Amino acid sequence: MKKIALLAGARPNFMKIAPIMREIRKRSPSTKQILIHTGQHYDKNLSDVFFKDLGLPRPDYSLGVGSLPHGAQTGTIMIQLEPILQKTKPDLLLVVGDINSTMAGALTAVKMGIPVIHVEAGLRSGDRTMPEEINRMVTDCISSKLLTSCRDGDKNLIREGVNRRKIHFVGNVMIDSLKVALPYADKSQVLQTYGLKKRDYVCVTLHRPCNVDEPRNLLEIIAGLEEAAKKTKVIFPVHPRTLKALQKSKWKPKSRNLLITDPVGYIDFLCLLKNSAVTLTDSGGIQEETTFLGVPCLTVRPNTERPITITEGTNRLIKSDRKSIFTNIRSVLSKPFPRKRIIKYWDGKAAGRIWKIIDSFI
Ligand code: UD1
Ligand code: UDP
Repeated sequence: MKKIALLAGARPNFMKIAPIMREIRKRSPSTKQILIHTGQHYDKNLSDVFFKDLGLPRPDYSLGVGSLPHGAQTGTIMIQLEPILQKTKPDLLLVVGDINSTMAGALTAVKMGIPVIHVEAGLRSGDRTMPEEINRMVTDCISSKLLTSCRDGDKNLIREGVNRRKIHFVGNVMIDSLKVALPYADKSQVLQTYGLKKRDYVCVTLHRPCNVDEPRNLLEIIAGLEEAAKKTKVIFPVHPRTLKALQKSKWKPKSRNLLITDPVGYIDFLCLLKNSAVTLTDSGGIQEETTFLGVPCLTVRPNTERPITITEGTNRLIKSDRKSIFTNIRSVLSKPFPRKRIIKYWDGKAAGRIWKIIDSFI
């Protein structure tokens, strides 16, 4: 019997793993899938809700590592994962994305002689101050198969000297989950819950350390949102990292139009995203989802590992000062924004292409 271990650890992993597990189950029911959750994210609304919304099975192993500094988190995942891989002896370990769990999983497996497949390989921001950039480079360097979501990924890997035979352009597996979830998102009551009208509000998420860890930077962005909230409603489901910084800063909301909420589940969030007039974010995945949905996206970052969302999609990079935040929001609300184009293999069928690579590999 073939055995495939799949590793997930945080919010942006779950929507990438779910379609792959479903596809393996469909194409090869006899293949044993071993789902390992590192527990990097553990709050109900960052973890459990995604298992429910995405129909993921309960993890076979939960490492429960929780929040730790980078070295300790990476090391703890490795220490806990090694005996599980020793016991279960999978034919391969599949990792997704660019979080600490991704890199820790890949390092553990490869040192045990277990081949690694990396889904969402090859993305590069060129910014090595981002922990994710280090995770991407290390994971790509040691994986046997590098499955890319766009042609930029292939080009980056080839430029780094990777053997072309390792690289496979499979498309964007996040869009597989998005397409499955959209009919449910259309039935979500989240707009009514928050008194929002379609195309008449701004949706916001922020969690990058450069934007939120230093209260001064975060308060500057919030000041821009408060300015925007004079004209339009703003909904801001707050990531726990950002909440910590907000609490430290002793910030108090001044406008009723700025709605601060807990992070919301996947289905409700897609409803918020799809119906927003504009989304302002520093998330990686949300740049892609807005591009697919054709929703204008303002990304509060100096760079992106997903340039295709700018050249082909609806994304624009903006500065993080108060003026930039509200003038960019105002500009999107008053002027037509570039229309979306269809991106190759962002079609809901990436998991099928991923399965083909897995199948021929094992
Ligand atoms: C992590 C990933 C980032 C990804 C993001 C998705 C790394 C280095 N970072 O960032 O790439 O974009 O997830 O959301 O892997 N916390 C909670 N509850 C939780 C999880 C975290 O309260 O369930 C708080 C803790 O105070 C923790 C902080 O959030 O210290 C940051 O969590 P962590 O997983 O280290 O990084 P993220 O910012 O979530
Ligand atoms: N997301 C969600 N609820 C939220 C915020 C985000 O379901 O309150 C989803 C979003 O639709 C996307 C994923 O979480 O699928 C992105 O995760 P995040 O922004 O945390 O991580 P990144 O993509 O930046 O690594």
